[in-house]
Amino acid sequence: PTPKVIFSGIQPTGIPHLGNYLGALKQWVKLQNEAAPDTTLIYSLVDLHAITIQQDPDQLRKWRKESFAMLLAIGLDPERSTIFHQSHVPAHCELMWILSCQASTGYLARMTQWKEKTAGEKDNSAKLKLGLFSYPVLQAADILVHGATHVPVGHDQAQHLEFSRQIANGFNTVIGRNVLVAPETLISPAKRVMSLKDPSAKMSKSHKDAKSRILLTDTEEEIGEKIKKAMTDSLDGITYDPERRPGLSNLIDLLHYTDEDASKIDQVTIAKELSGMPLRIIKEKVATAVESAIRPIRERYQALVENDALLNDAAARGCEKATESAAKTLVKIKNAVGL
Ligand code: ADP
Ligand code: NA
Repeated sequence: PTPKVIFSGIQPTGIPHLGNYLGALKQWVKLQNEAAPDTTLIYSLVDLHAITIQQDPDQLRKWRKESFAMLLAIGLDPERSTIFHQSHVPAHCELMWILSCQASTGYLARMTQWKEKTAGEKDNSAKLKLGLFSYPVLQAADILVHGATHVPVGHDQAQHLEFSRQIANGFNTVIGRNVLVAPETLISPAKRVMSLKDPSAKMSKSHKDAKSRILLTDTEEEIGEKIKKAMTDSLDGITYDPERRPGLSNLIDLLHYTDEDASKIDQVTIAKELSGMPLRIIKEKVATAVESAIRPIRERYQALVENDALLNDAAARGCEKATESAAKTLVKIKNAVGL
């Protein structure tokens, strides 16, 4: 079998929250730590995607640095994994252009995220930006330029991965040989963390109330305070019922997700163990569990974010490795189209 190439990316648009960590980033570290020796792991801070909406330049610069420090703090190793800023590797944009010349605008227009983000602006095409429309093509280029065989994604991204597969297969058909690798989805067990203030919605950086999310830099006090004020319900007893009791069930999920041996104790069992306890005590248990999961990350982050030399070196090393990886595909593609 050909060696695996795993690729994933995240936007550098703020300190990641607990949902980003438990739902995506923790999986990146696990993949790295459990990878076969011949597996390549490529993780990108996709800053070019971040500018599909208007960003304050100084804020974005700060976020890019902080996000890089955070990827190291969660346990990614810049020697084992390729960790880099997308904008440092121009091959992503070059492949995007070449793929754009094959991509169907009809297909892009049917993308759920495009439809959602542009709902209500339909008659105002001056406000609809080309970058937002075509970013799935850049996303496809991110994946295809490294010949990724496996892409870990949340289910909100499954449609875009399908687009990457279609574009790879379509390109190969036009060229008449297999130059691009159609990637497989790497399904991670769905871990969705809900908002602490509105548990019917997922925890998100775009939620107005900052108390609805726990950041990986939050102090023990902040974590305790946010969980203490988390919305639950006034029904009797402790049961795991995400439909009817989303707030309480989210807290039980957090106990499950932060437990390193979580495979052994499911949420229903946890709920049984907690039955009879006052909600205040349960919330304290959740806060302790979350603090234990976050503390080592927060402490490593605080040391790393002060160390510009280390961060710059690691980013330069990542850029070098990613450039080398991307060049291999790009030269084949350019050759295939006559460039
Ligand atoms: P946000 O919704 O905060 O803007 P993003 O859309 O940038 O987060 O998501 C970055 C990554 O984190 C994606 O892989 C996404 O699936 C994952 N993710 C985001 N929010 C959650 C959540 N609440 N629970 C689990 N995973 C999440
Ligand atoms: Na989002």
